Amino acid sequence: MADRTCLAIVLAAGEGTRMRSARPKVLHEIASRSLLAHVLDAVRAAGGTAAVVVGPDADAVAAEARRVLPGADIFVQSERLGTAHAVLAAKTAIARGADDVLVIYGDTPLIRPQTLRRMRDALAGGAAIAVLGFRPQDPAGYGRLVLDGAELVAIREEIDASAAERLIAVCNGGLMAFAGKSALPILEKIDRNNRKSEFYLTDAVAIARAMKLRAVVIETEEDDVRGINTKAQLAETEAVLQQRLRKAAMAAGVTLVAPETVFLSADTTFGRDVSVEPVVVFGPGVMVEDNAVIRSFSHLDRAHVGKGALVGPYARLRPGARLGADVHIGNFVEIKEAVIEDGAKANHLAYIGDARLGAGSNFGAGAIVCNYDGVTKHRTDIGKGAFIGSNASLVAPVSVGDGAYVATGSVITHDVPADGLAIARERQVIKENRAARLKALKGAGKKKAAE
Ligand code: UD1
Ligand code: CA
Repeated sequence: MADRTCLAIVLAAGEGTRMRSARPKVLHEIASRSLLAHVLDAVRAAGGTAAVVVGPDADAVAAEARRVLPGADIFVQSERLGTAHAVLAAKTAIARGADDVLVIYGDTPLIRPQTLRRMRDALAGGAAIAVLGFRPQDPAGYGRLVLDGAELVAIREEIDASAAERLIAVCNGGLMAFAGKSALPILEKIDRNNRKSEFYLTDAVAIARAMKLRAVVIETEEDDVRGINTKAQLAETEAVLQQRLRKAAMAAGVTLVAPETVFLSADTTFGRDVSVEPVVVFGPGVMVEDNAVIRSFSHLDRAHVGKGALVGPYARLRPGARLGADVHIGNFVEIKEAVIEDGAKANHLAYIGDARLGAGSNFGAGAIVCNYDGVTKHRTDIGKGAFIGSNASLVAPVSVGDGAYVATGSVITHDVPADGLAIARERQVIKENRAARLKALKGAGKKKAAE
């Protein structure tokens, strides 16, 4: 199979009206990645290039396809006249003569590369068509696979099927693979003589039989072909994928105390011996290195967690948070676009954005950087071994040198030199007995008002 070329035609021209969304269906996400991206990733992993068939005005879909697979060809199906009609929108790509031509729906994101490879293997074994079959719990709406022994004779759409044919348990999952050399001769014979007046891709099987070509069924589990038409199905599919991702993480050595409460992205990556406590959300683009511990109720998004770091509980790592080794980020600490160098600590109630926190430094409770003046974001640079006292405000742009101290409650507006101490706050003044006098005055006032 290694030397066979493969073109996957991904059908994504559907309107997705049942999603009740302004967003095209295939751009909805599960595990932080679009449905289309999941399908294209599987195509790439199975060794294929892609031609994506989109509807009119689907620039966003085309852009997503190119983002995921820069070499993807885009074809527009301007009228929705059926699945075979959609495939033929990519006729020029098919005519380039790949050995294997796969047809995949853009809304079946759980398709696995190994399933695509099994279909390709059937073509390598001499079949002209391989159809992906499955046994749905409820076959309503699916095409039925009419078999004669191991050979597939026809696919009957439910609406066109006889009562006997409707009893067939094995259904068409929607994925089909064609031997490249017979793909166009078969597809071009498909007509629209059926109840829906559509060009049915499924008619390819009977046509191949009539041409004395062999069609076979590759059976798979229902999840592989799970299609998404509604928001409820989107959520169900998300749940299935989360299960897969959690199992894969645990198989790779991650400790998940309560796996069902941890939400992962398709691209979340973990080193060895990472522990994740209950109720943690990993947005896209997160990498966690060896021996790090992510404690409960933390939310991470496009962030890097270094070896042995401790994050949370209740930590928020936003895009561009880069934590070095053995960093501690504690409760109610928010980090954005900031490098936290090895061994630095911000343990309580802090905001660090557009900044560097030098190795071994300590960022006190309630301290913040003031990085935004309402117009522009500014940087804060804190050197190695610095100590930022509790409730300090560092007004960016500003720097604190290596080993410097910032006193508690200071509002720092000028750079602090290395090893210096900055105190920028009003001195405490004591007025003896002032509180007691104020209370007495207030009491007298009330008495007067009551008279
Ligand atoms: C299709 C199969 C059916 C199978 C089922 C599995 C046909 C005729 N029937 O039925 O045997 O059991 O899938 O889910 O193929 N599309 C286009 N352009 C079109 C029509 C469809 O791009 O003109 C796309 C849709 O966006 C969708 C896919 O093709 O992603 C399938 O179309 P759909 O109308 O949902 O086919 P089904 O009736 O479900
Ligand atoms: Ca469908």
